[in-house]
Amino acid sequence: DRIDWDAEAAEKGGFDTYMLKEIYEQPTALTNTLIGRLHDDTGEVNLDIGLDPQSFKRISIIACGTAYYAGLVGEYLIEQLARIPVEVDVASEYRYRNPLVSENTLAIVVSQSGETIDTLEALREAKKGGAKTLGVINAKGSSMTRELDDTLYIHAGPEIGVASTKAYTSMVGAFVMLALWLGRARGTLSDTQAKDLLHATRELPRLVEEALNPARVAEIKRVAEKYAQARDYLFLGRGVNAPTAFEGALKLKEISYIHAEGYAAGEMKHGPIALIDANLPVVVVATESHLLEKTISNVQEVRARSGKVIALLSDGDTENAQHADDVLYVPRAHEMVSPVVNAVALQLLSYFTASYLGKDVDKPRNLAKSVTVE
Ligand code: G6P
Repeated sequence: DRIDWDAEAAEKGGFDTYMLKEIYEQPTALTNTLIGRLHDDTGEVNLDIGLDPQSFKRISIIACGTAYYAGLVGEYLIEQLARIPVEVDVASEYRYRNPLVSENTLAIVVSQSGETIDTLEALREAKKGGAKTLGVINAKGSSMTRELDDTLYIHAGPEIGVASTKAYTSMVGAFVMLALWLGRARGTLSDTQAKDLLHATRELPRLVEEALNPARVAEIKRVAEKYAQARDYLFLGRGVNAPTAFEGALKLKEISYIHAEGYAAGEMKHGPIALIDANLPVVVVATESHLLEKTISNVQEVRARSGKVIALLSDGDTENAQHADDVLYVPRAHEMVSPVVNAVALQLLSYFTASYLGKDVDKPRNLAKSVTVE
């Protein structure tokens, strides 16, 4: 009725949907994730975590859905910056596979809601084996936080849209800080490296704001509508941005119901390449990176088979634009933090595809915001 409608419209703050509102809240959400925790004058990271960063030899990251992809970025960051072996599992597998856990294991569970049953049970499994436990969590006082040794809150604020957006980028922001904290404590990062990375991290809210400027958004909308009739979509990325491709594909299938697969770009030749034809849009995350040349050669392989290339390129990269059918330019970011900025463009691509197709983006069919039954 009228009163409810007005209340809901007010909650959406002038946006058509919660999802779009939450996409635009990302600069603020990220600011809140990072605030007070990074000191780029000294290179110190203060996370208020009671755990001793020297006390474990391996890390297990456990999560479901979008949070799992944030965990994959975390794996890359922690291994690169802190040189600790990391494995990442989907919670529904971890909890039943009798995992190898010891007192030297740090189990990190990642969850927006803090209530996902598989993740909660996986946490209990890790504790049973003697692991120390840390949560990367959004919801204050949620079930997981009551059982964890320590919680690193992401402070993204309430997320209503079923498809996760701001929680994802804030989780990735939290993993950047964790990797830096571990790297500092374990001596794998020099002062200069730490200061550079801290500086790059603190730039994130501004870069995400820039990624949301009207001209960029309009171009993403145009591209989304151009390919909205596609039956399938392929997303490719490498290194720290391989998970960006996985998450981009998940987002598209969740809300537009277009079949989409995310692949590590170098793995394309082992299967998905068979699907490429003129009807297949292929989104390639090809922003500034030490692997960019490799990614561009994958782009050329797609092109040679008449696939349609939608390339995410860093601002100013006009050279690689020639290899793409459509280019989405994103602000330049340090490679290690670029997944945050790149994710925003892919969220918008999914959003505009789904809304063009008339789908209910906030409440996609068959999905729930928080899955508390197995
Ligand atoms: C559901 C939601 C996803 C979310 C996943 C994990 O499937 O639809 O958006 O990523 O659960 O949720 P969590 O609250 O544990 O992050």
